[in-house]
Amino acid sequence: MKRTLGVCYYPEHWPEEIWAQDAARMVDAGLSWVRIGEFAWQRMEPSPGELHWDWLDRAIETLGGAGLKIILGTPTATPPRWMLDKHPDMLPVDAQGRPRRFGSRRHYCFSHLGYRAESRRIARLMAERYGSNKHIAAWQIDNEYACHNTTRSYSDTARTGFRDWLAQKYQSPGALNRAWGNVFWSMDYDDWSQIDLPNLTVTEQNHPHVLDFARYASDQVVAFNRAQVDEIRKCSNAPIIHNYMGRETSFDHWKVGADLDVASWDSYPLGFLSDRVECTPEHKLKFLRQGDPDNQAFHHDLYRAVGRGRWWIMEQQPGPVNWAPYNPAPLPGMARLWAWEAFAHGAETVCYFRWRQAPFAQEQMHAGLLRPDSAAAPALGEAQQVAKEINNLPDVGTAKARVALVFDYQSAWAWEAQPQGADFDMFRLAFAAYRALRRAGLNIDILPPDCADLSPYKFVLAPGIMHLSDPLRAALAAFDGIALIGPRTDTKTENLSIPTPLGPRIDGLDVSVVLTESMPPDDQIKLEGGGCFLHWFEHLEGNETAHLLTKSGQPAIMGGDNLRYLAGWPDDDTFDRIIGYHCDALDLETHALPDGLRIRDTDTHRFVFNYAPKAQKWNGTKIPAAGVHWEPLP
Ligand code: GAL
Repeated sequence: MKRTLGVCYYPEHWPEEIWAQDAARMVDAGLSWVRIGEFAWQRMEPSPGELHWDWLDRAIETLGGAGLKIILGTPTATPPRWMLDKHPDMLPVDAQGRPRRFGSRRHYCFSHLGYRAESRRIARLMAERYGSNKHIAAWQIDNEYACHNTTRSYSDTARTGFRDWLAQKYQSPGALNRAWGNVFWSMDYDDWSQIDLPNLTVTEQNHPHVLDFARYASDQVVAFNRAQVDEIRKCSNAPIIHNYMGRETSFDHWKVGADLDVASWDSYPLGFLSDRVECTPEHKLKFLRQGDPDNQAFHHDLYRAVGRGRWWIMEQQPGPVNWAPYNPAPLPGMARLWAWEAFAHGAETVCYFRWRQAPFAQEQMHAGLLRPDSAAAPALGEAQQVAKEINNLPDVGTAKARVALVFDYQSAWAWEAQPQGADFDMFRLAFAAYRALRRAGLNIDILPPDCADLSPYKFVLAPGIMHLSDPLRAALAAFDGIALIGPRTDTKTENLSIPTPLGPRIDGLDVSVVLTESMPPDDQIKLEGGGCFLHWFEHLEGNETAHLLTKSGQPAIMGGDNLRYLAGWPDDDTFDRIIGYHCDALDLETHALPDGLRIRDTDTHRFVFNYAPKAQKWNGTKIPAAGVHWEPLP
């Protein structure tokens, strides 16, 4: 497969006279794709039912005629102002009960069926008009579901929808009362109409109530997306994509992804390091202009799995962004490195965001490939270089990993409802495990929580999975490599209560979690041989070997040859040690990579990425700061 580059473009932001020059310049830079349309509802339909396609027809003709393939976005992340007159109750409501108003974007509640019908309608109209247009080579539905904290809305429509959802799930209030444990604090309900959303309570809400609301809210995202997908499929064979986000766990991406053809995500390495990666201040400073060396790779691997092998970068940071607390410029070379890293993880396409920096409105301080005066911004030259390099490199393929990490969104909601320790966060835990695997130079596949076949893998990690699905439970029991599960894995029922007998409950693993402690950042559970557990420690009982002990003699890893339970949250050195000795036992090759140097093997090549701000050596080759190197696999 030939990898390709693209760019996000907003014809409605620019005079029509420059569209053709822009298109020619994109082609000249080696770009193949252009994404348009995703915020232009007002321009398509300035008042209800008054449709203006003429400008979009011409934009598509101009861009497509220049040789670009078009990704057409449905504009449902930005309902025009008139929509609110039609549906005054469609605004999302925050957990404090306040409506979130018009004046930016994503001002809709996923539960609002009137707005869902409007979204279906505009998707249908676009599909009818452009479904067979030869320039439309892909679709994007909406834009970044969940962005700006919009998955969960505490509106009246959400309350009604939630009650119906609960009635279908539990069939009787009695069954719900039992599942939620409502005998506690006299919380029983007699009728669905008594059940509120889990906000504005006096103190902590009942966890299964919160978890069910998270499930309900996620299901609304799935349904909202599916409504548009159904319409587009009727008229178009082009692949349908959504652009997911970094570190966003509020809806089940596996479920949304099942309705789409390709997964994509929006990669802003510097913005994310600034606002959503836990690390030391030294790390933040060292990688300020490069981004965290593992954060992009984690999402590449996650979305490759969500897309069932097909994935893109829909938005790639080109220069400083506008939205993080601090917005430095990338080191020269990073706009190239980020694209190559995505390709090495199997991306089909990388689209930079955006073509030209807008001189107006909210994102005017956000760089593009061009400056606002149309001169080239630094990233344009790097994109051009990548385009040339792609043409010279044969297809490198996407290697299957021998190591896998299970990632589950429901567990993220469960632990958000019931953290038990202020630092317990599902993403953070999974990412800590992932980082350690990357530090060892391993290729990693991320697996969904209902994965039924672990046979391609030798080493599987499943940290923090609150309740194992039946297929995964069976796959673990049958696994002949080493699976390291825990902390907190299979320690709850589906209803987020403690099972008896105590979990985990997998055939062939005689280990139970009998007591759980969480610790503040400065406290640690010291381990035999060095290192420690941070944040979290579970006391284990059972008839299995302790492969690692705490200093006080309690089991830290316990299990048999194939299935083992990890009782705490290892610090980085301990994670490295644990991964090292398991890989040795499994004969998996590891590398001691210097800080900031990362590798990824494809079918034919080994790619080496230097995220460090200074040159580093790999196998005798000097790789400059922000440099990429590739060599045929040994
Ligand atoms: C993304 C979004 C784009 C743009 C970009 C700025 O989250 O999808 O529309 O806002 O961020 O970095």
